[in-house]
Amino acid sequence: MRLKEKVAIVTGGASGLGKAVALRFASEGAIVIIVDVNEAAMAETAEQIQGLGGKARAYKIDVTQQQDLRNFMEDVVAAEGRVDILVNNAGITRYRAFGGIGDADWNAVLDLDLKGVFFCTQAVAPYMERQQYGKIINISSSLGTGTTPHVGELTAGASAPYASAKAAVIQLTKTLARELGPSGVNVNCVAPGFFLTPLTGATRSPDEVAEHISVRTNMAVLNRPGRLEELAAAVLFFASDDSSFVTGHTLHVDGGRTDRM
Ligand SMILES: NC(=O)c1ccc[n+]([C@@H]2O[C@H](COP(=O)([O-])OP(=O)(O)OC[C@H]3O[C@@H](n4cnc5c(N)ncnc54)[C@H](O)[C@@H]3O)[C@@H](O)[C@H]2O)c1
Repeated sequence: MRLKEKVAIVTGGASGLGKAVALRFASEGAIVIIVDVNEAAMAETAEQIQGLGGKARAYKIDVTQQQDLRNFMEDVVAAEGRVDILVNNAGITRYRAFGGIGDADWNAVLDLDLKGVFFCTQAVAPYMERQQYGKIINISSSLGTGTTPHVGELTAGASAPYASAKAAVIQLTKTLARELGPSGVNVNCVAPGFFLTPLTGATRSPDEVAEHISVRTNMAVLNRPGRLEELAAAVLFFASDDSSFVTGHTLHVDGGRTDRM
């Protein structure tokens, strides 16, 4: 077991990629703490982990709320004695052509996908620094480095706030790795390509989802979407001591996306 008794927080752990990470961490012996806003889904994921013999608890926290995060981290450390791993995974997107993006869309995406990562890391860092041990893994996206042709109003090209936030997460990873490295905390990033999750259909019609799957499949050298376990395996690498001398790194788990390569 690669994470035996490690205390691991996974934001957005109720669904999609975060859920796959939570399940894999638990199977590797971690005490998994799911942070999400979807109460029903997070309870279901925690129960699934417990049903498989793993350890999991779920907390309803909005990761854009700085003070709530500070209180939450205090509670976690009071209950578990430490916190070893943070996966900053919670994220949303709003596909809109550039000209139609208003203040509300911009703020919703940047608040969660960038500020949420910053606030969570800021809340956990003092405990990890005190322990002289910690692993922080940020989830960016292929859209943080590559661009996709804009074919229609709701296609993947229309991602200005999301792409801006995800690019910033890569740079934030590097700067936080530098600040926290001397305290024994590794900060790395995983940039997923295309994985089918609830996010895929969140702001698209079924026809748009079908088009998206086809476009994305053709854009990967491996010519298929990723499997959720493949993403979880990469996050596990950074969460475990297998990556003890790696920090500030972004690993693309995208089947060889042609808009990045
Ligand atoms: N699915 C993909 O192909 C893909 C590709 C690249 C990057 N990503 C990134 O991976 C991450 C996970 O995406 P996913 O596809 O699993 O999405 P998802 O929608 O399945 O899961 C996101 C989770 O975040 C939670 N969440 C939303 N707002 C929150 C908040 N304010 N506080 C706490 N939790 C909140 C949701 O309830 C949900 O459980 C995101 O950061 C996303 O940008 C996904």
